[in-house]
Formats: sequence, C-alpha cells, structure tokens
Amino acid sequence: MPESLVERAREALDNAYVPYSEYTVGAALRTADGEVYVGCNIENANYSNSLHAEEVAIAEAVKNGHTEFDRLVVTSGARDGVTPCGMCRQTLAEFCDEDLPVVCDLGGDDVAEYTLGELLPNTISLDTLEAAAAKRDADADE
Ligand code: THU
Ligand code: ZN
Repeated sequence: MPESLVERAREALDNAYVPYSEYTVGAALRTADGEVYVGCNIENANYSNSLHAEEVAIAEAVKNGHTEFDRLVVTSGARDGVTPCGMCRQTLAEFCDEDLPVVCDLGGDDVAEYTLGELLPNTISLDTLEAAAAKRDADADE
C-alpha cells in the first residue's frame, strides 16, 4: 500500500530543525504527475531566515522540474491543524491553482480541508503584473 500524503508529511517532521520554537512542521506536496516532495521547517538563529516546511517542499519540487501540483498536506507535531502562513500561501499561489486542496492534519484520521483560494483570495500573480504592464503601454499610447 502506498503511504498516504498525511503519513509522508508526518514523517518529514522527524527532520525539522526547531531549536527556537520547538514547533515542528511537515509538508507533503504532490505533483500533477504523482510524485511527492516533502519539507520540514529549518530555523535559524536570526529567526527571519527560518525556512518553512511548505517552502522547502515546493523549492525541492520546482528544482526538480515540477511546476504543477494537485494536493498539499501540512502537519505539525502538535497535530493542531496548522495552515500555511501568509508567506507560504503566496509562494504556493505562484504555481498552484486556487482550487488546490490544502489538507491540514488534526491527528488520527481527522483533517481540515481548504482550497488555496479560500486561504488566499485576490493574490498578486503574474496576471496582475502583465495587466499593469498592458495598462502602462495603453496609457503611453494615448
Ligand atoms: N512554520 C512553517 O514551517 N510553515 C508555516 O507556514 C507556518 C510556520 C514554522 C516556522 C517556524 O519554524 C515555526 O513554524 C513557528 O512559527
Ligand atoms: Zn509559512
């Protein structure tokens, strides 16, 4: 039986490096062609350089040539249904559609499921910048 995405995210917790918060986070991101990339949080003594589990997972996936995703699971050692923070939501939105299911682990078989669009409506995207550029060009022609 293949391991579930929740199990993969939970396993990633083992490698979390969290001497400051002691709050472990794991993420498992499935590509459109069925591969799974996992990440854990990796903290830093300057705090702001801390890497989030979702960032680590998506960076590894993109580095390996994947830019389409169909499901994300996020978990924490606390099994508290942790959701991606605002920064991670924006990072995910660069590559994922607003209907991407984001599954948040509540322990046992319990999850809370959202879509990325619910978590981050009205995101800034490449479309935003292209529309602004087109408007600048149109205004310049007037
Ligand atoms: N954390 C993540 O890894 N992902 C998130 O999106 C939420 C926060 C980590 C960062 C830090 O190491 C710890 O959780 C406490 O904020
Ligand atoms: Zn984050």
